[in-house]
Amino acid sequence: MPKIRFPEGFLWGAATAAYQIEGAVEEDGRGPSIWDTFSHTPGAVINGDTGDHACDHYHRWEKDLDLLSDLGVGSYRFSVAWPRIVPTGSGAINAKGLDFYDRLVDALVDRQIQPMVTLYHWDLPQGLQDVGGWVNRDTTDRFVDYVRAVHDRLGDRVPYWLTLNEPYCSAIVGHLEGRHAPGIRDEAKAVTAIHHLLLAHGKAVQALRADGVTGKVGITCNLTSPHPASENAADLDAAARLDLHENRMFLDPLFRGSYPDDAAAHYKGVTDFPFVQDGDLETISEPLDFFGINYYERHLVTTDPADPVRGWTRVPDPKPTTVGIGVHPEGLREVLERVSADYTDLPLFVTETGICLHDYVDPEGQVKDDERVEFFDSHIRAAHQAIQNGVNLAGFFPWSLMDNYEWAWGYAYRFGMYYVDYATQERIPKRSAQWFSKITRANGID
Ligand code: FCB
Repeated sequence: MPKIRFPEGFLWGAATAAYQIEGAVEEDGRGPSIWDTFSHTPGAVINGDTGDHACDHYHRWEKDLDLLSDLGVGSYRFSVAWPRIVPTGSGAINAKGLDFYDRLVDALVDRQIQPMVTLYHWDLPQGLQDVGGWVNRDTTDRFVDYVRAVHDRLGDRVPYWLTLNEPYCSAIVGHLEGRHAPGIRDEAKAVTAIHHLLLAHGKAVQALRADGVTGKVGITCNLTSPHPASENAADLDAAARLDLHENRMFLDPLFRGSYPDDAAAHYKGVTDFPFVQDGDLETISEPLDFFGINYYERHLVTTDPADPVRGWTRVPDPKPTTVGIGVHPEGLREVLERVSADYTDLPLFVTETGICLHDYVDPEGQVKDDERVEFFDSHIRAAHQAIQNGVNLAGFFPWSLMDNYEWAWGYAYRFGMYYVDYATQERIPKRSAQWFSKITRANGID
């Protein structure tokens, strides 16, 4: 394999999210979020696992930042927990919540690690869910209040802001599939939630700008690269519909200021978009400074006549990983090239990609996650190829810094570069951490 080098200044990072690592759910005035409610709902999460303790990062954050220094990353992507800042979702700001992130940001700056702050990584205050959550337009204004409070406190030290993480998952996995909080299964509500999430994003961008934000502002979407299973018309149509559902429902409003032309026909009988008000799409398409992409899946698609509304099914991967997802680094290149050819020449960041494995500590005390090393190696090469092909890619953030609470999969699956022993909260560098620390220092692969 040839050596590869990334452009000077390329930003290597690592990513986490608040509910997945922090624990301390009742500390310093934090209110409950939809994930506290959902994770405590019998049957919702594997083994009934909750984020009550997670990686106890709320108390161990300083040592965790040392792991970032060991990795040699230039940036750390973490999220702020909305219910720590506004415990009921509206009204008074909880200063102690802000204090925690203030200390974290200071300590990152001391270590010369640039904070990349995700403002919403799925932990909606339960108080807002009680009045409709993302199906209620009012939530968009509550989001702005919260964002302004965070920016007011941290804005002088944060160079990168992400409004939302993966609005697809919040809307579709949370409101159509019901596998994530708030556990709703209703397609009309899911599409309404898409619109309100995107609107909240646009309003937040406008508010940050009005408040004089000096950092760069973006959003992270999870995107896929759907391929038809065959060239027959029905499969081509199924792939186009899946692409609408997973990608274009987000990319078109964000970058073109409109929902895709085929959306009305696709959602006929589900919703005719009564929630879209004058000016919303201008707000949603407010220009950004960068765009974050999370890539996990490619998707081979075939038609499914049994499903007249959506009309597709995803063909199972011939070589699935533990959770059924295949490994397709070329899909990452395709996604990056597609976004840059069809939507934007803004700097792109891979804000997440990763693989979950059943890692274990062997008798010598080592975690030999060679499959993860191979995964990152191939995806970093694919990202490099995209740059060679003209994509303006500016950074790469593996998911995740350490094993953590993997939403509906609980602690059953591990994504980290550091192994977490949940009984002792010990962090053990896996082979992937040792490998990645060489990548960040060489700015490429030797
Ligand atoms: C993404 C989420 C992230 C993590 C990875 C595995 O969808 O953004 O929090 O759970 O998947």
